[in-house]
Amino acid sequence: MINQDTTLMNEWHPVLLSSALGDKPEAVILLGEKLAVFRTSNGVHAFKDLCIHRGVPLSLGKIKEDELVCAYHGWSYNGCGACTRIPSLPKHQAIPSKAKAQVYSCVEANGLIWVCLGTPSRPLPPVCGFIPDGFKEVFMGPYTLQAAGPRVVENFLDVSHLMFVHEGLLGDADYAEIDDYRVMEEDGVLRTEEIVVYQPDADGTGRGVNSRYVYEVYGPLCVGLTKTDDRSDHIFRLFLMVLPVTESQSVAYMLKQRNYAYDEPDEVFIRFQDTLIEQDRVMVENQKPELLPLDLQAELHLKADRLSIAYRKRLREWGVTFGTA
Ligand code: FES
Ligand code: CO
Repeated sequence: MINQDTTLMNEWHPVLLSSALGDKPEAVILLGEKLAVFRTSNGVHAFKDLCIHRGVPLSLGKIKEDELVCAYHGWSYNGCGACTRIPSLPKHQAIPSKAKAQVYSCVEANGLIWVCLGTPSRPLPPVCGFIPDGFKEVFMGPYTLQAAGPRVVENFLDVSHLMFVHEGLLGDADYAEIDDYRVMEEDGVLRTEEIVVYQPDADGTGRGVNSRYVYEVYGPLCVGLTKTDDRSDHIFRLFLMVLPVTESQSVAYMLKQRNYAYDEPDEVFIRFQDTLIEQDRVMVENQKPELLPLDLQAELHLKADRLSIAYRKRLREWGVTFGTA
């Protein structure tokens, strides 16, 4: 059943990597709603994954002559969702006007396919399509996690887990103190001051440095960080976009931009992120309660958790109910 979280229904969500959508429809789930996503010469499309004839998922069908053809009795739907052909219908009979698929907003941009179930409340997240000059970009994931989207996002924003969950890589338990930092807001984006963390292996290439983190929150399930260090002019930007599948399952898409190590194969960074995600998985899939509590009295907070607190407050202001308690 679809959750009536109008805030998230009116957001764009990444449902597939562009590279994952070939010439067959794909089944995806967004906010509990099953969708058939497919490609025609006019672009990408997302339909409710249900044929109105006998309720078979349209994602079981195929693309033929630029239309989506249901696997069961061959009804053919054009990109606007109108049924244009019913093979069993005698030629002189009109196609019933109710023979339609339910269509959702769907666009392809910057390596991802995005869907909005309602009326888009804002443009696509600012993270894609902006590659600063001299930066190299790599997608990581998708990572499927048995956890609520806001739990996954908050884990990304949590600086004090680095020394424990990612010990030896992103932190060292002997250097776990976090200096106080502020969270500011500018143009609707939450942003931290620089937070310094000693990292034995900051990015998978084996460099031990004091990293400076600046975190940003762009939307309910879209966040990023920029990392610089004390030993180089390297800039490392990492974005997280979470697809809320159900309240207990999410898919994390990550995009990394860097202005260094151009010759390093992308696989080095992807494998490193794979390792980090498996470490995070153990935490986010076991947190209780499963839904992120927005009542600030519900858990115990420290100053180092300022960003998590700001994120929870913001989710409450946005009115996000899916994946929160
Ligand atoms: Fe789709 Fe019959 S169920 S054509
Ligand atoms: Co982590």
